[in-house]
Amino acid sequence: MAADYRPWPVALGIVAFYLLLAVYGSSLLRTRLPRRWWKALHYGSYGAVVLVSFHAGWSGTDVGTWGYRLVAFVLLVSATVAALVRTLFSPGRRVTEASTPQSRAMPQPMTITAVHPLAADTVGLDLAPPDGTSMPVWQPGAHPTVHLPNGLQRRYSLCGDPAERTGYRIAVHRPPHSRGGSAWVHEHAVPGTVVGVSGPDNHFCLEPAGDYLFLAGGIGITPIKTMIESLPAHRSWRLIYIGRSRNAMVFCDELEQRWPEQVSILARDETGTRPDLTRILTGTTAMVYCCGPASMTDEVTTLVPPARLHVEHFTAAPITPTARPRPFEVVCARSGRHVQVTEDESLLEALEHAHVPVVASCREGVCGACAVRVISGHAEHFDSIPHTREQDEQNVMYPCVSRSRSPLLTLDL
Ligand code: FES
Repeated sequence: MAADYRPWPVALGIVAFYLLLAVYGSSLLRTRLPRRWWKALHYGSYGAVVLVSFHAGWSGTDVGTWGYRLVAFVLLVSATVAALVRTLFSPGRRVTEASTPQSRAMPQPMTITAVHPLAADTVGLDLAPPDGTSMPVWQPGAHPTVHLPNGLQRRYSLCGDPAERTGYRIAVHRPPHSRGGSAWVHEHAVPGTVVGVSGPDNHFCLEPAGDYLFLAGGIGITPIKTMIESLPAHRSWRLIYIGRSRNAMVFCDELEQRWPEQVSILARDETGTRPDLTRILTGTTAMVYCCGPASMTDEVTTLVPPARLHVEHFTAAPITPTARPRPFEVVCARSGRHVQVTEDESLLEALEHAHVPVVASCREGVCGACAVRVISGHAEHFDSIPHTREQDEQNVMYPCVSRSRSPLLTLDL
């Protein structure tokens, strides 16, 4: 016998139908939607199962027998448990609770196993842990922090094979005015040298897209090359690799041999002119990934809408504080220390003067090495690092450049 008709469970079933349509549609458009959109839509599938369960068990049609209700109840419990497990044990939450940005920045010893010249002023280093342990999984765009024996810390993009878990490969370019990091590597790094390595972190993740335009300047090719290598063979992409001279650019021959149709090398000593980025970018609808010197990233930023642009900076983007810096107080939650920050010093300097250990590298708000989590108070951000969802969830700030809006800031230190 048919049971009574109940409008609410029926309505929930209709909502579930449209929710499942949205999940299915976002699967088809996965390469064209921003990653956070389709991920959010896919979490909606848990809700769809719950709604369908209510519909099946309680809509009051002829399916409303005890057998259907039992199935619906089992589905409800399963979906709730799955959603709880996903929420409580997701990678982002594990990072938040089990480790802090600074605890992940604690260096582990690694031995330099090979040093090989890659181009004028650029050497490649292979690094491996002395005890043979496996390295963490990393994604293209990731960069570890290398803690050099001279006390400096520097970040270099990984340019090896992400599937290779026995070690890392990095490329180190020595600019004319090295601040001591790359100069030390070029003058002292030999096989057998032990350095500290922490991370890696990634502020330059490759988001799914149907078409990519990669723009690399100088040593900015290192994260871009790993991104290209990670793409499926059928993906549409193009690389414009810009440099002052071919002998100072790395991987040119390899890139041209492997992808002659997609790669354009624009070396100033061959073309004789500065590349016209406006012409290169006009009319493109591709997702643009750009890594290179400030002159390049600044220009690209004015030419590409933010929704289609991912930039990794070598140097800090100019951010002008709107008001004169104010003093504030910091509480280090783990140690209980109170630190006063004057208007004339950075938060990082104040922490260092108070002997609170904080890993730092660029000191310009570019590399992300000094990331700390804000527990309470309001940070004022002056960094040039694209903020990821994970960082936003963790409420991360970079004390080398960022300050506090509130008189008191509590940090996870
Ligand atoms: S030290 Fe590089 S972002 Fe702070």
